[in-house]
Amino acid sequence: MPKKTISKSKKENIGGLLHEKRKFKPSAQFSKQANAQKSIYAQAKKDPIKFWDSMAKEVIWNKKWTKTLQWKTPDAKWFVGGKLNITETCLDRHIAEGRRNKAAIIWEGEPGDKKTITYFELYRDVNKFANVLKSLGIKKGDRVAIYLPMIPELVIGMLACARIGAIHSVIFGGFSPDSLRDRINDSECKLLITSDGAYRRGQILPLKHDADIAIADCPSIENVVIVKRGDFLLRVKEGRDHWYHRLMQDAKAYCKPTYVDAEHPLFILYTSGTTGRPKGIMHTTGGYLVGVYTTTKYVFDIKDDDVYWCTADCGWITGHSYITYGPLANGATQIMYEGAPNWPENDRFWQIVEEYGVSIFYTAPTAIRAFMKWGREHPDKYDLSSLRLLGSVGEPINPEAWIWYNEVIGNKKCPIVDTWWQTETGHIMITPLPGITATKPGSATQSFPGTEAVILDENGKQVKEGGGLLAITKPWPGMLRGIWGDRKRFIETYWSKWDNIYFPGDGAKIDKDKYLWVLGRIDDELNISGHRIATTEVESTLVAHPDVAEAAIVGMPHEMKGQCMIAFVTLGGNIQPSEKHENLLREFVSRKIGAIAKPEKIIFTGDLPKTRSGKIMRRLLRDIAMGKVMGDTTTLADPDVLNKIKQRYEED
Ligand code: WTA
Repeated sequence: MPKKTISKSKKENIGGLLHEKRKFKPSAQFSKQANAQKSIYAQAKKDPIKFWDSMAKEVIWNKKWTKTLQWKTPDAKWFVGGKLNITETCLDRHIAEGRRNKAAIIWEGEPGDKKTITYFELYRDVNKFANVLKSLGIKKGDRVAIYLPMIPELVIGMLACARIGAIHSVIFGGFSPDSLRDRINDSECKLLITSDGAYRRGQILPLKHDADIAIADCPSIENVVIVKRGDFLLRVKEGRDHWYHRLMQDAKAYCKPTYVDAEHPLFILYTSGTTGRPKGIMHTTGGYLVGVYTTTKYVFDIKDDDVYWCTADCGWITGHSYITYGPLANGATQIMYEGAPNWPENDRFWQIVEEYGVSIFYTAPTAIRAFMKWGREHPDKYDLSSLRLLGSVGEPINPEAWIWYNEVIGNKKCPIVDTWWQTETGHIMITPLPGITATKPGSATQSFPGTEAVILDENGKQVKEGGGLLAITKPWPGMLRGIWGDRKRFIETYWSKWDNIYFPGDGAKIDKDKYLWVLGRIDDELNISGHRIATTEVESTLVAHPDVAEAAIVGMPHEMKGQCMIAFVTLGGNIQPSEKHENLLREFVSRKIGAIAKPEKIIFTGDLPKTRSGKIMRRLLRDIAMGKVMGDTTTLADPDVLNKIKQRYEED
């Protein structure tokens, strides 16, 4: 059983070294029924390829592979020679195996509308929509952009693409028209699926309107399919724009799956990159399916009568792997919720947990910190006793949040799986296994069976205990196969630090029990509320504003968001900075990239501190933003600049 009480002295030490020593042991009761048994680690370690090979046998193939892995750094081919259609594992097999009338998706809209979709209904809609896509000229290998709120049609759209071998590129609904345009153009999508609008905290986001602005500059888009979410005003361009519900009325019921090679691309998902241009991370079909199927089965311990809820958005990788593909491949029943956790009140999530008897709940540390702030009276109003497993993803979880999650949400009876992974890794890589691994608050613990994460120093020497860089030493099935259209960047970003070893970009440490603690990004990406944002992308956006001469972004720790962004901006000409300017520029970034990229604060400065060679000294800016004593300033071209900035910051 997990320890029942946490003594006051331990609580006071939260965040300190004590956490490395504290372990929460799995309960015998959980272990007995767990999908994963202890032997899984030894088996997978002995022969990781055999482990993945045996897992691959649990999903549906049209033609069996001849070789499990062909590996020549940085190119992996998994399940060579195998052919499949991923939707057969996610849908057809459940129809055939007795889950026909089982709820696949229990959906709740933000305004309170509800819909339950059985596996058969989902299968039917995916088949019909796949036929619609075909009728609009979409063929195997074509790219389809999806820009939708969290409504079932988002999952239907992804699966319909997969049904016919088209490659989906989901763009988070909170992204701006410019961001949407850049992503569509980068992979030359032929079709866009969007909706008339979306609800967010009671407001209406005009998705189709934004999409219209974007596609005015997207020559590759031939057709737009619009899902009707509400009664939102929009313009319909004859010939190009089509209503989803009308097309679906006439669509044929069955679409024969297109069998693709295991290495056929399944999707592209853009993530922030350090050059300012987003990276189109490319995933393929066979290995990705085996990876998400296996991790969902063992990390979330999914059973047929579970009600699983991952609160992510399908616009991010978590939604791809642990809403669309992983849970459906496992025949799970899952909740899909459209809106914000604090709409209309701060108790919305707990209301949903009680109403549907959610048993597995997967969310982000930033959300947990918000729940803590809102107070335990909200969850305490509800019966959360159906919960049996909790998960966390997206950023390091601070021990305070872990302990609160364990006590207040999990009632000290739910194992917590703190899962480390990335858009690039496709599926979970570092995690406890519930029922097996003793957990430590704040540590993602150990590599998932069949994968190998270690800590290396800059030179590639393994760190046995202490800090260093996170590294993955063995290929894994769901690994990215490239950056769309940019082979050089793929190699430089991930495969150039050490020989034959993947570099994820995170700093981490390993303690004396061999537990891994991922500390955060070491490049110029920030992780704000679990979303990756490259400082360069925001800097170049700010500089694009006519009033801005120069800009530098630094990251700072933030109580709720994990990290936040402080922008140091020099205005051009004789423009005098004002509060109006701060708001204007924050809004400008929001409009150009999306609200997630809005700087927390803008500090105006007459100049930026630079080295003699003209490089902006971000380290010093960070020190100022942190209110720290300034470090060595001897390399500054004009040391006085820094004092001025510091003074200005202190005045604010
Ligand atoms: C961070 C999200 C610590 C990390 C699935 C990684 C984490 C980046 C954790 C990937 C965790 C994710 N503990 N850090 N459990 N999970 N991260 O691509 O910095 O949106 O590199 O994928 O989030 O973010 P991405």
